[in-house]
Amino acid sequence: MTASPHSDPEPVVRFDNVGMRYGRGPEILRDLSFDLPRGSFQFLTGPSGAGKTSLLKLIYLAAKPSRGLISCFGRDVATLPRDELPDLRRRIGVVFQEFRLLNHLSVFDNVALPLRVTGKKRSDYAEDVAELLAWVGLGDKMSALPPTLSGGEQQRVAIARAVVGQPEILIADEPTGNVDPEMGMRLLRLFAELNKLGTTIVIATHDLQLVRMVDAPVMTLANGHLHIRPPRSQRQREADLRNSLDPEPDMPSPADTDSGEDPMDAVARAMEMPEDDETDGEDRDE
Ligand SMILES: Nc1ncnc2c1ncn2[C@@H]1O[C@H](COP(=O)(O)OP(=O)(O)OP(=O)(O)O)[C@@H](O)[C@H]1O
Ligand SMILES: [Mg+2]
Repeated sequence: MTASPHSDPEPVVRFDNVGMRYGRGPEILRDLSFDLPRGSFQFLTGPSGAGKTSLLKLIYLAAKPSRGLISCFGRDVATLPRDELPDLRRRIGVVFQEFRLLNHLSVFDNVALPLRVTGKKRSDYAEDVAELLAWVGLGDKMSALPPTLSGGEQQRVAIARAVVGQPEILIADEPTGNVDPEMGMRLLRLFAELNKLGTTIVIATHDLQLVRMVDAPVMTLANGHLHIRPPRSQRQREADLRNSLDPEPDMPSPADTDSGEDPMDAVARAMEMPEDDETDGEDRDE
């Protein structure tokens, strides 16, 4: 269940020595090789300008690599006939960094759009859309137009639109950048629920609090290269193994007490935490 160099025989996404540049500019992504196993959950971090959005664009098929191979749902994207692209894209939900809502459509209609394009009738999805909007705290804004909403409200509409069709892959680019920490946790819970239903998830974020909440691999971009840190529980197992082989271990154990637990249980648990517990969140990790 982790992003890793080619460990899964049938990942939903595979990168093999991928490089990317814009036009004749410098290569901003270099030698990227990793798998996104089906049903996995991973974070993507890195400083501003490191290439997170560009990497996500490659995954959701909005950009092509300048070298290397990318396969998505088992299809080599370089040889994919143009007319098959929309079908593949429909299987991927995207929360864009800049939201990209349709300003002339109501909040409800923005969220319902991915369902409408698959030919579903309003009566089939109206209740689901309303329930989802209520869950993200927008139950009273369903008829509003996006320009009349705050940044955080628009972000939640964008998230609801991306998840409403239960996509096979969910790509979220800074999805909690405009909301308060409590709402950030609620949105993370939504992603966790979707992941439990089988969706493969990649969340680009600068929010280290969020990253700490899930025992998931962290993909970090810096200087064009990608480093993948395994989940905490895996690092703990590896440290335990090293210690058992070495009678006098000289390395402190890097992991927390929650090793081995389902990563999503940690999110669910965090959601139930009383508010005054949040203050000691700072020094819990490493
Ligand atoms: N359309 C474009 N044309 C040319 N260069 C681009 C384009 N989009 C991004 N870049 C460049 O590619 C690099 C990576 O940009 P990208 O948006 O992927 O970074 P990021 O990690 O998402 O940053 P942030 O955290 O600020 O969102 C930057 O140097 C940027 O200037
Ligand atoms: Mg970005």
